[in-house]
Amino acid sequence: MAEAGQGMATDIGEQPTTYQRILDNAAAVREVAREVARRELRHVVLVARGTSDHAALYGSYLSQIRLGLPAGLASPSVVSLYGAHPDMSQALVIGVSQSGRSPDLVEVLDSARRSGATTLALTNAPDSELARVAELHVDILAGPERAVAATKTYTAELLSLLLVVEGIRTGTGAPEPDVAPELDRLPELAAQTLVGRDHEEVAARLRYANQLVVTGRGYAYATAREASLKIIETSYLSALAYSGADLLHGPVAMADREMPVLAIVGDGPGGAAMAEVIERLRTLHADVVTVGPARTAAEQAHIGVPAVDERYSPLLDIIPLQRLALTLALARGEDPDSPRGLSKVTHTR
Ligand code: F6R
Repeated sequence: MAEAGQGMATDIGEQPTTYQRILDNAAAVREVAREVARRELRHVVLVARGTSDHAALYGSYLSQIRLGLPAGLASPSVVSLYGAHPDMSQALVIGVSQSGRSPDLVEVLDSARRSGATTLALTNAPDSELARVAELHVDILAGPERAVAATKTYTAELLSLLLVVEGIRTGTGAPEPDVAPELDRLPELAAQTLVGRDHEEVAARLRYANQLVVTGRGYAYATAREASLKIIETSYLSALAYSGADLLHGPVAMADREMPVLAIVGDGPGGAAMAEVIERLRTLHADVVTVGPARTAAEQAHIGVPAVDERYSPLLDIIPLQRLALTLALARGEDPDSPRGLSKVTHTR
């Protein structure tokens, strides 16, 4: 029998090579981006579930900040349960799904295409129904994922979305010259995140916790959502994810010294905005662990991640958090490769 967590560990460890593979195949993504850039787009709509929904959230921030277009996440039930067909003409509708098999996502993309949208599917399964129903497709090239909990498919979705958006921005399909060197370093920086051991100390702190808050702002909000899901589904721990701003609007009331908080603090406007959140948590004596390039003065523990522009930080910050989820699950006697009651493909309507 395979050792518990071996599949997830292998998937996590393959992320630097997956990044390299995606970058080596960027020409195909460029072509898609160039085609999209020719269209008259007024907004971007992303549709996904679970982990892929968190990648979509990153895509929404990127589309708004880098393309200057309104962007948001679709609610699939509008189409699949209520039978409504919103007018998506002049929208770029991006379906994000590693399996490409959830019927509700297929329905939304089909409906969007019929209403005149430019539809793009980002999947790890070029033969899937979602890839077939969309006009354009990007293969995220993550290879087979062993564990049920998604890790390398998530980061492959992030990088593929980044390449698509940056390619649309220039109109040529190629990223701007200031973006390219950062991307070239990505596999090496991702490899660095696999060597650090800060997560082990944090796993020991969280071993007997029942609840936890994960928070971040801007681009880091996607990381907070995904880290919380990874911990929930592998350790069965109640991990609540809030944007730093939303945390201050109410949920911070539950913070006390019994409440561990993972705060993602990047190098940019989102990270800077977290100073206020951390200060507030400190006054409430919450047990704060920061994740990012630099320690602040206020936290009890820190998980270091290489410093990059905040736009790229979701591609790195999540890796030690995936390792934390894995280590924590094993410490709690669970097998993170096969979370109870879950299977690799979930069909929702
Ligand atoms: C979590 C996980 C799920 C999937 C979700 C969507 O680790 O794997 O949340 O991300 O079921 O699946 P796809 O991407 O196949 O549409």
